[in-house]
Parts: sequence; structure tokens; C-alpha cells
Amino acid sequence: MNFSLGAVPMKSPFVLAPMAGCTDLPFRLLCREHGADLCYSEMIDCHALISRPQDCLALIRTSPAEQPVAMQLYGNDPNAMGEATAILSELPIACIDINMGCPMEKVIQIGAGAALMKNPRLAEKIVVSVCKNSTKPVTVKIRAGWNQHTITAPEIAKIAESAGVQAIAIHARTWSDGFTGPIDHGILTQVMKSVSIPVIANGDITSHEQGLSLMKKIGCAGVMIGRAALGAPWIFSGTVNQHPSMAYRIKALLRHLALAEIHLSPEPDLSKIRNHAWKYFRGTVNGPAIRKQIDATATYPELRDFIHNLAERIFRQ
Ligand SMILES: Cc1cc2nc3c(=O)[nH]c(=O)nc-3n(C[C@H](O)[C@H](O)[C@H](O)COP(=O)(O)O)c2cc1C
Repeated sequence: MNFSLGAVPMKSPFVLAPMAGCTDLPFRLLCREHGADLCYSEMIDCHALISRPQDCLALIRTSPAEQPVAMQLYGNDPNAMGEATAILSELPIACIDINMGCPMEKVIQIGAGAALMKNPRLAEKIVVSVCKNSTKPVTVKIRAGWNQHTITAPEIAKIAESAGVQAIAIHARTWSDGFTGPIDHGILTQVMKSVSIPVIANGDITSHEQGLSLMKKIGCAGVMIGRAALGAPWIFSGTVNQHPSMAYRIKALLRHLALAEIHLSPEPDLSKIRNHAWKYFRGTVNGPAIRKQIDATATYPELRDFIHNLAERIFRQ
């Protein structure tokens, strides 16, 4: 049986990870169409949401078609995190997430994101404030700890559960590991033992099959996929070949562009959509040549025309 967020059962244990610059509304919708259920937004600065909400419109854009969606907040100030939570609570979303995993300098510097893994007292205040101000289920995305000498995930998971958090996602690396080195399955098991709410495992899952076997191996409630879903939303599907044909890739990319045109006005941001488009050709024979041509496009319509022409050629073959 799939895990639930509060009273809401998930249709799939496969979760799309929050990724700044990537997990906007069109990409979340696309992943959902391929089988993901819970999808996370890009991280949102709690202070920006309170004082410059117009700057956050793109980040909080949602649609009824994408339920259940989680929107993620980051910050270092319990009051501001609470205030921002109250704003997000007004939106038609399923869940609010607290970022305790981001390693970026600008986030760490202010004591937010992964820096909270070395400050359990502040983490507790933030979680309590968010839970108090939320009318939606709250989740927390953590790391294993700050570094190998400060493994705090089980402690912070317990704090979060006591405050009322409904699920924990854990990127099983420390802040000092960044995005490299082995995923620590031991810490996932420790966190699962320390709480009774669902634990979602994250880090280096590169195929649907690998996600299933991790759940089987350690018994986690779900798996969260980030980088491997970029340019490969079919990773969430249990039926699509995980190394699909060029025609299948292009069909998925065309759908991505169509969703971006519907939901991003006046038109999709060229550098962001180019970044997505690139990834659909990862590991393909003609990938390097196609990527070069994608890079050479100077406007969104140019990129769109290039992909449509490419599609015509490939579908004719
Ligand atoms: C481009 C990029 C942006 C990310 N942005 C966020 C973010 O906004 N919030 C967050 O909690 N984690 C963020 N992460 C971390 C991912 O959610 C995930 O924890 C990490 O990539 C490990 O999972 P993976 O191996 O499946 O990619 C980001 C990662 C990448 C690559």
C-alpha cells in the first residue's frame, strides 16, 4: 500500500524531488502524466514570499490538475517561516515542505537549508512554527547531517514528527558530501526506526527499477527522484522502457514544450527550457549534435521550431 500524507493516500510511492530552476508547473505536470504523484516545487524564500510576493508568482504557480503538489519553503527565521506558511496555506496545494537540505552558499550562510542539520534547536522552532501556521500537511526534507561527525537526521526526524510533520524525505548524504559519494542506506534505516511517519528515500536513484528495489530492500514508504527525472520523466512509469527510442524522447519533449507554452506566459524562459531540452538526449547517439543545435537557438520560438523540425524528421523514419 502506498503512503499517505495525513488523510490523503498517494497513488504512487514515486515522488518528484524539489529542484530550483527545474521543477516548475509544466515539468511537475509532465512527471505526473508519467506516473509521479506527489511532486515538489522549487524552493521558495520565505522572506521573499512575505515582502515581494510578486517576485514569487512563478514559483507558486499551480493548477488543479497537479494535485497533490508540495510547495517548499526555506528560511532561518521561525516567525517568517510561519508567516510564509500561512500564505502558502491559502493556495490549492496538498502540502508544505521545509527545506533542510539545500547546500547552496547563500542558503547556508543565513543558517537555513542544510545548516539546520547542525542546529536542531532552530530546526525545531521552525518546524513548530510551520506546523502551527499550516492548514495543510507538512513535510520536511533533510540530509543525513552536517558532516560525518554531526549525523543528526534521526534526532531531527523525531523533532519533526513530534511537531506534527506528516512525512520526511531524506537525501542520504551530509551537507559536506554535497552531491557526491555513496548514499548512506544505514542512515535511512536509522531514520525509519526513529519515527513512525512515512520516510521517503532520496539520492542517486537512476531508474524505476532501482527505486522499487530500494523500497523492497529497506522498507521505506517512498522514493524521491531528482536529477534522473530531468529529461526523463518516464522514470516515474513502471511500464515505459527506461531507455526509450528517440521518437519517444521527442514526444515527451514536445509535450513538455506544450505544457510550458500553456502555463508560462508570455513564453517559456529560453535558458531554463533549453536546459530541460538538452537532457532529453542524454546518452543518445545523436545527442551531442542535437545539443549543439539546441545551444545555438537564440529565442524560444527558434528552439520550438528546431524541436518540431527534428520531430518531423524522426517520426518520418
Ligand atoms: C538543480 C538542482 C536543484 C535543486 N534544488 C533543490 C531545492 O530547491 N530544494 C531541495 O530541497 N533540494 C534541491 N535539490 C536537491 C534534490 O532535491 C535532491 O535532494 C538531490 O538532487 C539528490 O537526489 P537525486 O540524486 O535524485 O538528484 C536540487 C538539486 C538539483 C540538482
